[in-house]
Amino acid sequence: MQQHLEDLIHTHRHWTGQGNVATYIPELGKQQPDLLGISVCEADGSRWQAGDWQTPFTIQSISKVVTFVCVLLDNDYETLTKTISVAPTADGFNSIVNLETKNEHRPLNAMINSGAIASIALVKGDTMETKYRRILAMMQAMTGRETLQVNEAVYQSEKRTGDRNRALAFYMKSTGIIQGNVDELLDAYFKLCSVEVTCEDIAVMAAVLACDGRSPVTGKTLFDAKTARIVKAVMTTCGMYDGSGEFAVDVGMPGKSGVGGGIMAVSPRKMGIGVMGPALDPKGNSLGGWKLLQSLSRDWDLNIF
Ligand code: DON
Repeated sequence: MQQHLEDLIHTHRHWTGQGNVATYIPELGKQQPDLLGISVCEADGSRWQAGDWQTPFTIQSISKVVTFVCVLLDNDYETLTKTISVAPTADGFNSIVNLETKNEHRPLNAMINSGAIASIALVKGDTMETKYRRILAMMQAMTGRETLQVNEAVYQSEKRTGDRNRALAFYMKSTGIIQGNVDELLDAYFKLCSVEVTCEDIAVMAAVLACDGRSPVTGKTLFDAKTARIVKAVMTTCGMYDGSGEFAVDVGMPGKSGVGGGIMAVSPRKMGIGVMGPALDPKGNSLGGWKLLQSLSRDWDLNIF
């Protein structure tokens, strides 16, 4: 297993030369483009890693998976889908167009920016700070790492340049999808995106989903199987944004990407996989990470279809 992962890193690192690091958040533009790492956490908790798996990066949109878990736990599913649906999208992760033209102003799903921002507002808590703390605590529980924290430079950079997210949030406030203080809500969103993780953290989080809500590392049950099933279903159809269809064909596992270069992939009942490569394809998904997962899925027969 170990040798296989090392060989894969060796044979796939060249893909990092064909992508670009995200620059719309200036701090992310400073990332080293040729990094490539992988971590696997099996259902019995054993872990295997190779390449730059220890290099920290910001979780970015992979945090949307954790927010989705919390919003599902804190709301009745039928009621929740009246505000945020579980429909796929053919547009980019920060697209605003659907909010006006489709779906009665509801965000299409919780994996895109509008859906994640609206989800934070619906998590239990009297203040945005309490909601943020609840989601961060779930992230810490899922990774088994209480020391997880926000990368302050990335957070400030996101906050300074997050006007598209502000547009999405204010638009949703105007249509009644969200209530409350929009600036505080966005602050929670920016902080959640800026939490620093490693491939191992992502793999362990994915393993919790693979094990239907139970952490194979800490042994704790963090959520129920129904919640895990809904999250994995929406990851499959929407986790890679407008690249979700191709990812389903190429990799065939529930996945979620982030512009920090991470991708989380879940092999139900078998393992969680975390990959990282900050050089992205034009849709904002890690190019090297995608290719790594494609090969691993083929070699280990992980395609769920
Ligand atoms: O909202 C943003 O722009 C980022 N903080 C997160 C976006 C993201 O990770 C998209 N993923 N591929």
